[in-house]
Amino acid sequence: MPYPRPTVLCALDWCRSYELIFQIFSPVGRCVGMIRLLSVVGARPNFMKIAPLIEEFRNREPAQDLIFEHCLVHSGQHYDQLLSGNIFNDLGLPPPDINLEVASGSHAVQTAEVMKRLEPVLLDYRPDMVLVVGDVNSTLAAALTAAKLGIAVAHIEAGLRSFDMKMPEEINRKLTDAISTLLFVSEQSGIGNLQREGIASEKVFLVGNVMIDCLLRHREVAAKLSFLDQLGVRKNGGDPIPYGILTLHRPSNVDDPKTLAGILNAMKTLAAEFPIFFPVHPRTRKNLENFGLLNYLSDAAGSRTGIIPLDPLGYLEFLSLNDQARIVFTDSGGVQEETTVLGIPCLTLRDNTERPATVEQGSNEVVGVDPVRIIAAARCALQKPGRSSQRPTLWDGKAASRIAAVLLEYFGRQ
Ligand code: UD1
Repeated sequence: MPYPRPTVLCALDWCRSYELIFQIFSPVGRCVGMIRLLSVVGARPNFMKIAPLIEEFRNREPAQDLIFEHCLVHSGQHYDQLLSGNIFNDLGLPPPDINLEVASGSHAVQTAEVMKRLEPVLLDYRPDMVLVVGDVNSTLAAALTAAKLGIAVAHIEAGLRSFDMKMPEEINRKLTDAISTLLFVSEQSGIGNLQREGIASEKVFLVGNVMIDCLLRHREVAAKLSFLDQLGVRKNGGDPIPYGILTLHRPSNVDDPKTLAGILNAMKTLAAEFPIFFPVHPRTRKNLENFGLLNYLSDAAGSRTGIIPLDPLGYLEFLSLNDQARIVFTDSGGVQEETTVLGIPCLTLRDNTERPATVEQGSNEVVGVDPVRIIAAARCALQKPGRSSQRPTLWDGKAASRIAAVLLEYFGRQ
């Protein structure tokens, strides 16, 4: 597929022709080397992981006479304004230098399209390293394309394991880790997992959680939004009434009508007592329509009970909602981590989690999808006083800075 040749690549051609590319002069007249990085993001949860890194690459002072040059590629896996554009805006991310526009498709088609369209970009840009984050199809596709071209790959959020090979993300995680040059791990469990898979320990770095960097950077701004007032759960910035949040998008939960109806039944029972806000993922919305389950959702605007559907939210809106919730029900990995740091009780509607730190130290409980168990666990969580949780090691807002330090050290040695 032809795509417009981005300005950044044209500029690079010009630089190369004048042999300027590897050595430039810093403002103080020193000759510094350039580390050329290319990151690939594709789906919503990738964007909050790359944002703190981009900020770090942009602002970091040269060290060991090295500076970063960075090119951002969006695979186009998520293309909706609600899942992509709005999140970019909220995070203050620059527009991607290149958009591969792969959009939706089967797993094979989506993965193959990212590979096909990324290869010429890598050949053109010739990065020193490709950075991939998380566990989506674009993550694996980008890592594989780079590795086959002999380009070093860094995987951010390496080592997480659900031990459930039916999850597409688990396949993506294991394969990406197997071909990565540097593996940046967010929680202690990842170190043991990678060790057991025979990954050399010199390649593995426990650096903390870039998604939490992002949360800590935006929490204050999100708290100032009037979003909760707009939803009718708060008046003029006062204390909100108790409310819950539901997010669902895993194929195992939303592609099976019985499972989806069971979860909604549990939510309906609980939502007789307090409103449960439900930002609906496009995949889930389609299935609610197809399975005839829309009747579970409240249609009364401003209702104080019921399951209240919302469009997918921006990053800041979701953070402001999350930060004041009484309880959160989710099948998302990122939401388990965010609620842990916010100290909000979280019930994970899955049989496993690849993020055990959120259970062992955080506010998360894995409860599965049985409606009776969900209701019992929710009642138990609601009896306890509000916030409480301990932050996992290194979830302190400095993960991006640690990653940049490792990269400088790595390239300093080359
Ligand atoms: C993907 C990731 C998942 C991540 C999730 C966050 C994989 C295997 N899955 O799942 O790990 O947690 O993103 O949302 O990579 N759609 C739209 N608009 C869009 C994108 C998708 O309407 O911008 C619809 C399409 O109908 C598509 C469906 O959502 O078929 C699913 O999208 P897809 O990218 O395949 O996976 P997600 O379920 O979003």
